[in-house]
Order: sequence, then C-alpha cells, then structure tokens
Amino acid sequence: MINKRFCIANWKMNYSIIDSKEYIMIWNKLEKLNTNVKTIICPPFTGLNVVGDLLKDSSTELGAQNIFYKNKGAYTGEISSIMLKELECKWIIIGHSERRMIIGETNEVIHDKLSHVINEGLFPILCVGETLEDRENGKTEIIIKEQLEIAIGDIDLNASKYILIAYEPVWAIGTGLHADNEIINKIHLFIRNYFIEKGYNSNISIIYGGSVTDKNAFSLSNNPNIDGFLIGGASLDVNKFYSIYTNL
Ligand code: PGA
Repeated sequence: MINKRFCIANWKMNYSIIDSKEYIMIWNKLEKLNTNVKTIICPPFTGLNVVGDLLKDSSTELGAQNIFYKNKGAYTGEISSIMLKELECKWIIIGHSERRMIIGETNEVIHDKLSHVINEGLFPILCVGETLEDRENGKTEIIIKEQLEIAIGDIDLNASKYILIAYEPVWAIGTGLHADNEIINKIHLFIRNYFIEKGYNSNISIIYGGSVTDKNAFSLSNNPNIDGFLIGGASLDVNKFYSIYTNL
C-alpha cells in the first residue's frame, strides 16, 4: 500500500491566469506540515504554465484535467502528453463524470487515455462512479466494475508507480450531498477487492470525490478506507482546500 494520502484540487473550468496566480501565492505561504499527504492542483489548461511555475519549489504537484491519447498530430482542440510533460505536469484526471456525460467520453476512450498516460510515465487519476438512477436500481457495483473493466482492459497497471482511483458518485458531485462513510466503505472495499483479484494492490490508492468540504473532510478522513480526496467546488477557496489538507 502507498504510504501517502492525496489531496487533489480539481478547479474544473474556473480561474483566469490572474486568479490562479493569486491563489497559488497564498497557497505557497501556508505551512505544509502534513507530510503524509501529497497535494496536487489541477487547473484548466490555460493555467498550467503559471501554476506549474509558481509550484516549482513547493511540495505540491501539478495535474491536468484531461489529455488526448496521441502524442501529436491533427487532433484539433486536444492536448498531448508531450505538452503536459513540458509543463512538468505529472498527474492526469481521466474519466471524470462531467467528461463522460457532457462531452460523451466512453469507457473505450478512457481506456486509450489510461493506457497512454501510463506508457508516457504520467500518473492517472481514474474516476468512476454511479448515477443516482444506477444506485436506485441497485446497479452501483455493476456500473463501477464495467467502468474499471473496460478502462483497464489489458493494461499492465504495474507499469505505473501510482494508480489513483477516484470513487465519485455522480449524485454527489457539486450537489452538497456527499456519500457517507458506510457507502464509501462498501464501494472502496469493492474497488480494492477488484484490484486484489486482478493481482494488483500495492500501487493502487482509492480516493473519494463528491461534495468534500472543509466541514465534512474531518469525519471522512478518519476513514482508513479513504486514501484521499478529489475536491471540486471547495478547492476553489484556498483556505478551504488548506483546511481539508490539514485534516487529512
Ligand atoms: P465537487 O466536485 O467537490 O464540487 O463535488 C468533485 C469533482 O468533480 O471532482
């Protein structure tokens, strides 16, 4: 098991370059005593350069919210691992439910991205999770298993030092309604067992995302089955993000 927990900010489509600078300048001044926690900030593409520069001498690492599965070529609007690595971006969010549902990303495309990220020596943050309808129909585990099964396919996950799986129930994202410890335990153990059965374990961390705030982080972070958080809304406030980090 990786002896670290993860505190990851997903800014989504928020913050201009000026806002990003202000945020990171405050962030860098805050004391990071929780050495057991790795912090990662994922700004939109336009902010990667400035955020990466400002984080250079800090313990916080840079992540991207998306990637394409080819290195270069005629792929209008896409961004490649070469470009992201040039900015010293190490972590990539893949399969976020907003990309699945709004952009129409399929499990097959997510597989290609996961494979590419690992081949390129980047670290994936693979998001899975059920909709409210799936949950009400008792299909949570079936959906998550399918998402994992297709995304992973024949990829050798041992080729990566870190594989982060973010359990993000769609009904909890941006709704203020986080999953409780009982639900999280059940699903995180389900995901953990899925990987153990496949012969993987030591490089897999299972984090939770969905309405994590400075208010609920403490009760969730006491849960030994949670290896960290992927935080959207609350990460936009630097003090809230810091408070979540200190509580982890
Ligand atoms: P939220 O988003 O914290 O705003 O619910 C989490 C995510 O989408 O990663």
